[in-house]
Amino acid sequence: MKLLWVVSALLLGCWRANASTAPTIVTDPLEVSNQTSAVLSCNLTESSLPIKGSHWLHNGKLIDGSESTNATAYRILYLHKITHSSGGKYECVFLTEPEVKQTIEVKTLPHVAASKHSEHGNENDKGAMVCVSHGYPLPTDWTWFKEEDGSQTPIINGTSDKYEIKSTPNKTTLTVNDLSIENDIGHYVCSGTNELGTNSDKIYLRVRSRLAALWPFLGIVAEVIILVTIIFIYEKRRKPDEVTDDDDSGAAPLKSNSTENHKDKNVRQRNSN
Ligand SMILES: *[C@@H]1O[C@H](CO)[C@@H](O)[C@H](O)[C@H]1NC(C)=O
Ligand SMILES: *[C@@H]1O[C@H](CO)[C@@H](O)[C@H](O)[C@H]1NC(C)=O
Ligand SMILES: *[C@@H]1O[C@H](CO)[C@@H](O)[C@H](O)[C@H]1NC(C)=O
Ligand SMILES: *[C@@H]1O[C@H](CO)[C@@H](O)[C@H](O)[C@H]1NC(C)=O
Ligand SMILES: *[C@@H]1O[C@H](CO)[C@@H](O)[C@H](O)[C@H]1NC(C)=O
Repeated sequence: MKLLWVVSALLLGCWRANASTAPTIVTDPLEVSNQTSAVLSCNLTESSLPIKGSHWLHNGKLIDGSESTNATAYRILYLHKITHSSGGKYECVFLTEPEVKQTIEVKTLPHVAASKHSEHGNENDKGAMVCVSHGYPLPTDWTWFKEEDGSQTPIINGTSDKYEIKSTPNKTTLTVNDLSIENDIGHYVCSGTNELGTNSDKIYLRVRSRLAALWPFLGIVAEVIILVTIIFIYEKRRKPDEVTDDDDSGAAPLKSNSTENHKDKNVRQRNSN
């Protein structure tokens, strides 16, 4: 580190010797790390250039209200409450000809969050869990754990067909293959680490039995069977009436039978009265 300073000081020296009025911006601090608040300052020195104004950028975007049309060569920015969303690259920009600027990095622990805190998959199928990260810098390492009896067992990628981990700096995905109700239900922890430290989040994985996956299908089948049965019974009951209406000759005995029955009924009814 010290050597780097010496080298850069030498290079800066040479560069300054070549262009005697080259503007330099001295920042304080050089970077902000793991702090809850900070005061960033930029001091434009060695400049004979006229300054038409200045402003601050956060991750390349203008910070509202930071624009000044003063000729001041010294700017301060107060960061009252630093969170993962206020981390990133801050730049003070002096409107000279040409423009000069300097960057101050504000680093925080990574913010790690599960896309969904509860996931589910079907037995013998696969289940996928996703965690994302925001902030600066993004995690350089992602680790997954399975919680078993209160302790966390790391899941090593590539040691079996059971687990598959795919990671980019801002996202990690754990896929559990061939889900089993006995072994795979439970809490899984995703853990993202950057140079400042680690943050994690937890996801609960549920596994549904194959039968449970079949329930909606079985429901539909049952519905169809009931419907067909109802229609069948209805049609069967209607048939004798239809026959008497449509076919006189064939149904003649039937007809007389039924009228006789009716007569009997009437007689019986009268008798009972
Ligand atoms: C800016 O830098 C110059 C030259 O190093 C120094 O004289 C001046 O006091 C600094 N200004 C502030 C506000 O620190
Ligand atoms: C710009 O100048 C005005 C007065 O000249 C002063 O009140 C204000 O604080 C200055 N702003 C900055 C950003 O230096
Ligand atoms: C995990 O292993 C798979 C296949 O072996 C590979 O494609 C993937 O990049 C690995 N993931 C990580 C985070 O190393
Ligand atoms: C993640 O990073 C990639 C490139 O590194 C970017 O394209 C993508 O938008 C990022 N996603 C999120 C959610 O920030
Ligand atoms: C940053 O702060 C957290 C607690 O807020 C601490 O656990 C971590 O060790 C710190 N990291 C460094 C690099 O100081």
